[in-house]
Amino acid sequence: MNRRNFIRVAGGGAIVAATATVAGCSNPISSAYPAASVEAWLGPGAETEPRRWALAHAITAPNPHNLQPWLVDLREPNAITVYTDRERTLPETDPFGRQILIGHGAFLELLVMALAQQGLAAQVTLWPQGELPATLKDWREQALQRPIARLSLSRNSQPDALFAQILNRHTPKSDFDTAKPVTAAALQTLLASVTATSIRVAGTVDNARLGPLRELCWQSAKVELLTPRTMMESVKLIRVGPTEILQHRDGITINSPFIRAVTAMGMFDRSAPPAEGSSGYKNAMARFEGHSNTAMGFVWMSTQGNSRSQQIDTGRAYVRMQLAAAQIGLGVHPMSQALQEFVEMKPHYEKAHQLMLSKPAPKTAGDDTVQMFCRLGYTPAPAPATPRRELQKFIRA
Ligand SMILES: Cc1cc2nc3c(=O)[nH]c(=O)nc-3n(C[C@H](O)[C@H](O)[C@H](O)COP(=O)(O)O)c2cc1C
Repeated sequence: MNRRNFIRVAGGGAIVAATATVAGCSNPISSAYPAASVEAWLGPGAETEPRRWALAHAITAPNPHNLQPWLVDLREPNAITVYTDRERTLPETDPFGRQILIGHGAFLELLVMALAQQGLAAQVTLWPQGELPATLKDWREQALQRPIARLSLSRNSQPDALFAQILNRHTPKSDFDTAKPVTAAALQTLLASVTATSIRVAGTVDNARLGPLRELCWQSAKVELLTPRTMMESVKLIRVGPTEILQHRDGITINSPFIRAVTAMGMFDRSAPPAEGSSGYKNAMARFEGHSNTAMGFVWMSTQGNSRSQQIDTGRAYVRMQLAAAQIGLGVHPMSQALQEFVEMKPHYEKAHQLMLSKPAPKTAGDDTVQMFCRLGYTPAPAPATPRRELQKFIRA
């Protein structure tokens, strides 16, 4: 929501009054997330059991809309079985669960890295009971019967240098500094971080290529924002203010005093997509337009085919790239709209494949598929840590 518009509508005095009544917050003007919601970023604390210690790191993995769909079973000694939480999916924008599985790959990679730090080598077997069905709607009965992976643990591991970045890694969701270009050397650092042979990685910081890719981000974002059911999928995951953030510790968290004030006054309607021309609408549009236009480079990952294991492998490679970026202070921000597989997005899905791979969008099982598309740049201020649920919530009894 645009501050000037709001003041014109409601009057400056009303803002002050509402800001002071935001529920459950000792410091009503702080936009920092409540401490308990971001405690994961302080590390495993008193956890001493090596698998729980590693898990405490893995839950910081990047994942779509911060749904944190991971569930682990620790009942078998010297093993970890990883499942997906069938309630934590995005049926409108990710109808095949492709992005959710990329998030699982990121989780697995951090888990393996953190186990190695404890001296434990993990042998990862993907899909020990067979793959999840092709579409999300068929996952329901299967999710807890078909684990994503089983990790078999043994002694003698090699520590991973990127481990040190796990608790420093954050996704920058703000405009990048357009006065600070991304160098070819920085891009090369990211590309070199991907060693998995199943993943193809490429990118650009070339001005001539930035324009069309920025335009792809912006045009595809408009489709997501203007399609009511996809927009509502995000709206339902918005958590405003300390009380909602502490209650959920997931989703899209907003804690700015202004939006909290607007929400407290009942002026932030989350029952319907923001009406065209409203300040909520203009704000959402401006946010995506700003992100798109300030992209100072792009990087993308693709696979030859689009199997469940390739999706997991993409997530593993992606988080390693974000950790490598954290090491050099560079921001990597996924712009996934053009890769979303709902019907209204089709022209942009096609364009994404043309611009990045010079190929048509995949039509058969073996065709090249873009899995991740991210903008690059530097933020004026460090990106904040996002909430995570309590460790215990990820463990199957
Ligand atoms: C497969 C995948 C797709 C994502 N797509 C987007 C996206 O389109 N826009 C965005 O702002 N963030 C995107 N993200 C980043 C997540 O929103 C982010 O990881 C999550 O909110 C947690 O924040 P953190 O990475 O800072 O811990 C994506 C992450 C993954 C793994």
